[in-house]
Amino acid sequence: MIKKAVIPAAGLGTRFLPATKAQPKEMLPIIDTPVIQYVVQEAVDSGIEDILIISGRTKRAIEDHFDRNTELEERLMNEEKEMLFNEIRHIADMAHIHYVRQKEILGLGDAIYYARFHTGNEPFAVLLGDTIINSVIPVTQQLIDVYEQYQATTLAVEVVPEDKVSRYGIIGGEKLDDQTVDVKEFVEKPAVGEAPSNLAIAGRYILTPEIFNALEQTPKGKNNELQLTDALMLLSRKEKVISHTINGKRYDIGNKLDYLKTTVEYALRRKEFAEPFYEFLKEVVENTKID
Ligand code: UTP
Repeated sequence: MIKKAVIPAAGLGTRFLPATKAQPKEMLPIIDTPVIQYVVQEAVDSGIEDILIISGRTKRAIEDHFDRNTELEERLMNEEKEMLFNEIRHIADMAHIHYVRQKEILGLGDAIYYARFHTGNEPFAVLLGDTIINSVIPVTQQLIDVYEQYQATTLAVEVVPEDKVSRYGIIGGEKLDDQTVDVKEFVEKPAVGEAPSNLAIAGRYILTPEIFNALEQTPKGKNNELQLTDALMLLSRKEKVISHTINGKRYDIGNKLDYLKTTVEYALRRKEFAEPFYEFLKEVVENTKID
C-alpha cells in the first residue's frame, strides 16, 4: 500500500527566469490551474491523501494556494458565485498537505532526502512538481500497480524519439515485458547512438526507504548537486529497480517551449476554448511567416 507522496518543488527554476525570480515555477498556470495542483490531483486520484511538498524560499505561494482564503470565499458567497466558491474551497481539502523546506538547493536527491522523517519505513510515491502527465489512468496509480507486483523501486519512463535521447536521463536493462524493464543502467543525456534504449525517466517514482541509504552513499554529481538518478544507479546494484513505460503524455513545464506547448494542448482539450482557440490558432498560423 502506498499511502504517502512527496512532491519536490524547491528548485530554482533557472530555465524559466525571470518569471521564477520571486514565484515558484510550480505555480505557473496551465490556463487557470497551477501546475502543482494538477500534480496533487494525480496523487489524490491514485488514492494518496498524505502529501509532503518539499518547499523553499520564494515558494510560499504554494502553501497559500492549498490553504483556505476565507475573505475570498466570503466574497464569492456574497456574490452567489457558488461554483467558483466550491472550486476554491475544494483546493484546501484535496489532501493532507505537509511542507518541509529544503534549506539549500542541492539537487533532487537532496530534496528527497528531506522526506525521510515523514515517510519513515514505508515506500512512497514521488511526483516532480514541475511535470504533469495527461493519462486515462493516473501515472502514479500505474506505478503503484507495478510496485505491487514486483515490490521494488519503480520508475516511470516514456518513449522518446531516438534522435532526442541526448536531452534526457535514459535507462537500460533487461526487458521483462512490453512495458517493464529490470533496470541495470542509467545514463544522463547520452550521445545519440550511445543510449542503451529510448526510454527516458519521466518524473514519477515509487521509492522504497532504501533510497535514503543510497542517497547517503551517493557522491555529489552534476552541478555539484545530489542527483536522484545517481542514487538510483547505486541502488540498482543492490536491489531490483523496475521501469514502467507510461500510458500517457508527459509535459515538463520547467522549460519555456514545453510550457507553451502544454498550454496550447490543454486549451484545445477544454470544451469552452477548443473551438474558438482552434480557429484562432489556424488564423495565426495562416498569417504568420517564420524567417
Ligand atoms: P528540475 O531540475 O527540473 O528543477 O527539478 P530546477 O532545478 O528548478 O530547474 P532549472 O534547471 O533550474 O530550471 C525537478 C523538480 O525537482 C525540484 C524542482 O522544484 C522541480 O519541481 N527540485 C529540484 C527540488 O525540490 N530541489 C532541488 O534541489 C532541485
